[in-house]
Amino acid sequence: MGKATESIHGHGFGDEVGSVVPPIYLTTPFRQVIEAQLSDRGLDLKYSREENPTVRYLERVLARLEGGVDALATNNGMAAISTILMTILKSGLRLILPAEVYGTTLGLAINMRKFGVETVVTMPETKDLAEAIKANPGSVVIVETITNPMLRVIDVDHLIKVSRDTGSTLIVDNTMATPVLYRPIEHGAELVVHSATKYISGHNDVLAGVIVSSSQSIINDAWQWRRRLGTIIQPLDAYLVLRGVKTMNLRVRRHCENAMAVADFLSNHPKVREVYYPGLKSSAYHELASRMFNGLYGGIVSFKIKGGREEAREFLNALSMVKPAPSFGGPESLITYPITSAAQPIPDEYKAKLGIDESLLRLSVGLEDPEDIISDLDNALRRIP
Ligand SMILES: Cc1ncc(COP(=O)(O)O)c(C=O)c1O
Repeated sequence: MGKATESIHGHGFGDEVGSVVPPIYLTTPFRQVIEAQLSDRGLDLKYSREENPTVRYLERVLARLEGGVDALATNNGMAAISTILMTILKSGLRLILPAEVYGTTLGLAINMRKFGVETVVTMPETKDLAEAIKANPGSVVIVETITNPMLRVIDVDHLIKVSRDTGSTLIVDNTMATPVLYRPIEHGAELVVHSATKYISGHNDVLAGVIVSSSQSIINDAWQWRRRLGTIIQPLDAYLVLRGVKTMNLRVRRHCENAMAVADFLSNHPKVREVYYPGLKSSAYHELASRMFNGLYGGIVSFKIKGGREEAREFLNALSMVKPAPSFGGPESLITYPITSAAQPIPDEYKAKLGIDESLLRLSVGLEDPEDIISDLDNALRRIP
């Protein structure tokens, strides 16, 4: 089955009344006399904090899309990350991650120190991560395929190899890339997480997360932690993600096309100092991205304007269609000011080194007609004095 087909039919739902779409099982408990009923994967189906059939339909689709054996859907992306960290970390283990990751992920990792985890923060380049992994065999490592907000591309294939050679466990946050651009498990990774709030659900209307693995035993262990932490997705939300994911393949391709057009436009704008987009031939990551992502480069474009916080405020207030709001991956173009949003928890000592400053903006290019996005940006940029 192709991936577009799997996103539509991969839930495996079959029904005697002929319903085409899987139902939403809004029930807290399931009938249990003595022993619990078992779900399709042989785990207890007795209480919806643990297992729910609508959630299972979604998990089957997401496992197939990422090429894993199984998946666990969670109530948001941070729930996926915290659940998997609770599953595999223990006191004394090293947790390695780059300074440029989703700020709350970094905050979580740093705060794991209070449980005796030795968190090591590196610069967000493949070579720095590889060196840290080699120096700390047996670590747990978190990386994002494409970093946010500076859109560096990480050579995940290389880190998979280094992690395997050193007995380390690599967790790939594939939110920005999506399985349309890159599927880490097909390249040997054991664990993938997503904020399914973003491109997977794709409509800016539901919080969701997922853990996908090539190992059933990791999924079964994480299932226990999901049940203990209470991080399972709600059935209604699972339905919304199931509905959204059907069009992911189409949507992501269009996001990428629109982003390329916007990146080209911004590159030639007199009020723009620098554009960060791996699709641009001038990007230091263009060659790696071309190799990894089959000619697609993602739906986010970051750029620096000529000016600082006040000029950015002027620009953001002058936009009419593009909305200033801190998320990405939906049909509406959204723009954020990373230094006070997603990148805010990144310690100041790193922000300057990473290039995250007061002139930086991150645009999630939506599914509108590209000329409308460009014209809105152009009008607002012209308002910068
Ligand atoms: C790369 C990445 N991972 C994880 C998360 C956390 O996801 P959520 O907001 O669904 O908890 C985000 C949120 O923006 C993100 O951008």
